[in-house]
Amino acid sequence: MSRCSPSTEIAKGIRVHSDFHHLISRRGFLIAAAGVAASAPMRPVRASATEERRIKVAPSQARLTGTDGPQTPVWAYDGTVPGPTLRLRQREPARIVVDNGLDEDTTVHWHGIRLPNAMDGVPGLTQKPIKPGESFVYEFTPPDAGTFWYHPHADSLVQLGRGLAGALIVEEAEPVAVDRDLLWLLQDWRLAKDGQIAAGFGNMMDAAMSGRVGNVVTINGTVPADQLVKAGERIRLRLANASLARIMALRFEGHRPVVVAIDGQPCDPHEPDSGRLVLAPAMRIDVMLDMQGDPGKRYAVIDDFYDGLAYTLTTLAYDEAPPLRAHPLDAPVGLPRNPLPAPDLAGAERQEIVLQGGMMGGGKLAGVGGMMGMGMPGMNGEAAWAINGTSMTGDGHAGMAPQFTLRRGTTCHLTMRNETAWWHPMHIHGFSMSVLSRNGSSVPHRQWQDTVLLAPKDTIECAFVADNPGDWMLHCHVADHQMAGLMTVFRVT
Ligand code: C2O
Ligand code: CU
Ligand code: CU
Repeated sequence: MSRCSPSTEIAKGIRVHSDFHHLISRRGFLIAAAGVAASAPMRPVRASATEERRIKVAPSQARLTGTDGPQTPVWAYDGTVPGPTLRLRQREPARIVVDNGLDEDTTVHWHGIRLPNAMDGVPGLTQKPIKPGESFVYEFTPPDAGTFWYHPHADSLVQLGRGLAGALIVEEAEPVAVDRDLLWLLQDWRLAKDGQIAAGFGNMMDAAMSGRVGNVVTINGTVPADQLVKAGERIRLRLANASLARIMALRFEGHRPVVVAIDGQPCDPHEPDSGRLVLAPAMRIDVMLDMQGDPGKRYAVIDDFYDGLAYTLTTLAYDEAPPLRAHPLDAPVGLPRNPLPAPDLAGAERQEIVLQGGMMGGGKLAGVGGMMGMGMPGMNGEAAWAINGTSMTGDGHAGMAPQFTLRRGTTCHLTMRNETAWWHPMHIHGFSMSVLSRNGSSVPHRQWQDTVLLAPKDTIECAFVADNPGDWMLHCHVADHQMAGLMTVFRVT
């Protein structure tokens, strides 16, 4: 046992935790460390050290519009909006204890992480909800490096809308050559004049149309001031859209961002079409940004997704200093690929999901209302949307019958058809999908995504290997749409 004294372990390279004593007292850790010591004494023992974090979910206050602005009552992870950025390491076990200090049930979903089903955070389906005053221990080993995020999957519309979201960064085994690694976690808030979060979550207009789009966009929890940059530096910028409903299309004036990963998964480095980075709710994009502007100058970052509603999100403000280097950093911008299983398209099982419903011209609800025979669609958790004729509403619950079942190891060739007049970022739990085609044209750059944006009437084909058993959610990540029926479940046995 003396072999496990803290000083020995620190010397062997284990990262020091605030909770170190708790960590070393864990039985699993002691056994694993002893095993490593006996069989391979020269290897660093980091692989057997579990990263442990504790996160408290509770009401808090935030100054979303800056230090002079009003206090907004929010719900927060560890008191901050967004929650703390969790940094894990690829292929190293993590243990995250979540304490619920809200007056209602919650869960945490680790969006985009390919993890065991029991850790996926869907109430009823994969775990019992965490009751007020109770805790839940999440344990998983992230297989993929990249930019992910976490959020509740209970009362999702309200809990996410009151601020519960945080970034989860899984670090590459080898550090990537950049001058700075930055994160912009984007959130969209609907605030009343007094700075309070506006009431009316889940109203029929939001539910059956574009969702609850807000009126204040924050970066890392505040309306952004200038972003200070230096000429010549290379920044890895991790963009994550944690909005309920707002789709963004970011343009960096005077700059040429190169997309290196989408939804955490590295792709072939490429410049986006017409220089616009389209980020639907729940999507992440990592870009490499060589700061090639002039010292002392300012360049706008513009979001122009919605016609006629373009606004300047923030400004890149260059330091006066001469460029750090004459030419862009001479290092490859591509990231190492993650170990995703390659789909076998020839032997694939085909499945199709059709997105239906929503408001059409003339204030009529397409199909769903009549189909379901319900009174006021979209109100009080009733259906405004459907997938293949069935509306699953809410957050996920016990007894959801799977739309289809896949035998473990088969490749699923999934077609998603949007019959509605609205945009839908469709999100799959537990897997990342290779995006094959959009409206019949093949998608370049070997893109893998867990959230795929469908424009009105789009058809998307994707494929993934069903290597992870369990019941998994597949839903629109516009929170209102999910709650009002744009959700389904599939099973891998
Ligand atoms: Cu990011 Cu089912 O969610
Ligand atoms: Cu997810
Ligand atoms: Cu949707």
